[in-house]
Amino acid sequence: TVGGTREAIDPVRFISNHSSGKMGFAVAEAAASRGASVTVVAGATTVEPPANVNVIRAMSASEMHAAVKTELSSATIFVGAAAVADYAPANAANAKIKKDGRDVMTLELKKTPDILAEVSKNRHNGLLVVGFAAETNDVIGYARSKMEKKGLDLVVANDITKDGAGFNTDTNIATILTRSGGEIELPLMSKRELADKILDEVVKLRAVE
Ligand code: C5P
Repeated sequence: TVGGTREAIDPVRFISNHSSGKMGFAVAEAAASRGASVTVVAGATTVEPPANVNVIRAMSASEMHAAVKTELSSATIFVGAAAVADYAPANAANAKIKKDGRDVMTLELKKTPDILAEVSKNRHNGLLVVGFAAETNDVIGYARSKMEKKGLDLVVANDITKDGAGFNTDTNIATILTRSGGEIELPLMSKRELADKILDEVVKLRAVE
């Protein structure tokens, strides 16, 4: 999964985030260039997908979840790089919401499906599951607990407050955590280079499967 999701408030407005899709598309491109057959389920992105991958657009968390479920049975590796909204409007309006002189407006939000956790929980034999953890503090601690809670094989943790890391940049600074306790701390590098580092770890995991 790649990019940000858009959660409708009404036919005109949505809630979203700053995800560009750069990191996820870099992983897709790196995998395709190694000969993998790649399907990307993409939400909202600000960059074009690589040429040699199959792209399915799914804008909201629930659309993305449905598309992932359809595609997953033929997959051997799932990489959840999308910035999926954690909450969506509980009751999106069918018509444009009017101001009507209101100074304050309250939106009720409901939890979206955790696509990564669901994929991991319902995984078929041999599927490897890779997640991302974008954090602002206690990066490794939160990433490790995410790995355990969601049952992941690899987590790519990054501190989005660092210069050159996080949303919309062409570079990233990450630590790759493995389920056996490994911590691979990487310096600043392009998202495309980081994609290859992630895939190197995936290849190592597959070798011991
Ligand atoms: O729990 P948190 O959102 O920090 O976890 C981040 C990881 O979980 C990312 O890999 C992201 O793609 C995935 N995720 C998801 N569905 C959600 C929330 C997060 O797949 N609803």
